[in-house]
Amino acid sequence: MKNYVSPSLLAADKARLGEEIKLAEKAGAEYIHWDIMDGKFVPNVSFETKTVKEFAKTHKMVNDVHIMVADPEVEAPFFVTCGADLVTFHIEAVKSVKEAEKIIDKLHSLNCKAGISIKPNTGVDAVVPLLGKVDLVLVMSVEPGKGGQKFMPNALDKIRELRKIIDKNRFNCLIEVDGGINDETGKLCREAGVDILVAGSYLFGHDDFLERVKLLR
Ligand code: DX5
Ligand code: ZN
Repeated sequence: MKNYVSPSLLAADKARLGEEIKLAEKAGAEYIHWDIMDGKFVPNVSFETKTVKEFAKTHKMVNDVHIMVADPEVEAPFFVTCGADLVTFHIEAVKSVKEAEKIIDKLHSLNCKAGISIKPNTGVDAVVPLLGKVDLVLVMSVEPGKGGQKFMPNALDKIRELRKIIDKNRFNCLIEVDGGINDETGKLCREAGVDILVAGSYLFGHDDFLERVKLLR
């Protein structure tokens, strides 16, 4: 089990994105989380692809790109060209496990890591067939689409279940959780077996950013 942190730029000051990224790096974050929304899979839109491209190579953290989009088959490889090191798409956005496998293979062929995500109402079963193939599984602990929402505790059971399956089968797959993470909910997720905590509004906009990252360890 790892204790990585992935600050979510959705909550960062967009006018000073370069500085916010440097702050995350200074705090020792291993990953930096980019939320991509297309206005279809979720109602909102977020970062433009050119922004990812502009900043992806300005730091040493893993560009952790979470695509909340209706067409991951087209978008996933596209974000590799923008500098993504890891692209996580949603199982709810594909028609079948086979289609998901195709996208994962494509990402791997481009030398990019692949992640699969489940929304709060999707059970772990939907992604179990992919755990031997993906590099990461992302459990959403809020409805995807916006920051600053309240943590949904049903994510904890999913993390526990995934931890068991991954350890039992010795799969090389990290578990990430996203949504409503702070020092308290983060601790519960760590206890349940999570490897990477994504946190947006808990970190950005606070003077004690560095201290808060430490509290997520
Ligand atoms: C929600 C996004 C999250 C979001 C988390 O759709 O996937 O990454 O930024 O924000 P907080 O940490 O504020 O819940
Ligand atoms: Zn996210």
